[in-house]
Amino acid sequence: MAYERNNIAAMMGYVPGEQIDAPDILKLNTNENPYPPSPSVTQALTAFNAERLRQYPPPTARNLQDSIASKHELDAGNVMVTNGGDELLRMAIATFVETSETIAVARPTYTLYQVLADAHGCSMTSFELDSDWGLPENYGMLLNEAGAKLSFLVNPHAPSGTLTPIQDISALADTFDGVLLLDEAYIDFVDPDIAYQSEQLIKDHDNILILRTFSKGYSLAGLRMAYGLGSESLIGPLMKTKDSYNTDLISQTLAQAALEDQDYARDTWSKVRQERQLVTANLKQAGYNVTDSQSNFILATVPENKSAEDIYQKLKAKDILVRYFNNEKRLEDKLRLTIGTPKENRRLLNALSTL
Ligand SMILES: Cc1ncc(COP(=O)(O)O)c(C=O)c1O
Repeated sequence: MAYERNNIAAMMGYVPGEQIDAPDILKLNTNENPYPPSPSVTQALTAFNAERLRQYPPPTARNLQDSIASKHELDAGNVMVTNGGDELLRMAIATFVETSETIAVARPTYTLYQVLADAHGCSMTSFELDSDWGLPENYGMLLNEAGAKLSFLVNPHAPSGTLTPIQDISALADTFDGVLLLDEAYIDFVDPDIAYQSEQLIKDHDNILILRTFSKGYSLAGLRMAYGLGSESLIGPLMKTKDSYNTDLISQTLAQAALEDQDYARDTWSKVRQERQLVTANLKQAGYNVTDSQSNFILATVPENKSAEDIYQKLKAKDILVRYFNNEKRLEDKLRLTIGTPKENRRLLNALSTL
């Protein structure tokens, strides 16, 4: 007997990157920060009094919400704290899209979007990114013609790591008649010399909802904490669809400690950027074609006489996990490599040089 709704029966679930728990495994497949969380997080965890768990947590994570608002020079009403970025994505669909309506994306993109659309029961339209991973021409018009109510745009883009300039996003939001969810999961790794100021987007456009996460930049993927930034006309309705207490007290406390130690987080971002440059240069020298990335991963096209799948398997045999996408034609000759510590990157590069 099947009890699920028809769309649930028909859909595929999300397939996360492999999470193998073995001492010698080098995990460069799910874009975690290679450095540990700030020492302030450890201190806050050690000092946490379990007695406080007797009561429910602040429903909107009020202290953290205020700290986030002040970091971005916005009001608390522009901030929604969520249980990981994935929760915000799910809530955005539940809040802004009827099941009879459509979501639109530029492909390839984060594969969870399709899964969430399938689970909701709405349709998803996708447009191919151009050969340099840029948005299709007249993308805003295309979204409107498709009747999209919500569009997801990852910036920097995953899996290529390229950054769409802020002016292009602003122009897109001007044209698009729906909600533009700007997924900035990897924004912390963007070169600080690039003028990219997402707060201004929120002030200028009431249809932009920004996703930020503690998973990557703050080394807290295991905690499941993220937040949305947007106009009150977006955050207000989202607040209605969230779970009553969607984030727990320990996570609120630890995320706050991480946010307050900006110097530590910035230092990890800068180290990742330096290594990104080095790994990119090394791979290019070895005959890989590497897209210049503004993220904490790079997308590398393997040399013509080699197979990406074969390299993925051979690295795995050496306990090195990278991401190979076998579900998208355009990615079949590519590997996505998370930037690790200098030592981890040397291990990857050495292994590649022996294949
Ligand atoms: C593009 C993108 N968006 C959002 C997320 C969600 O991150 P989290 O749920 O860990 O906050 C991820 C995670 O890998 C991602 O790659």
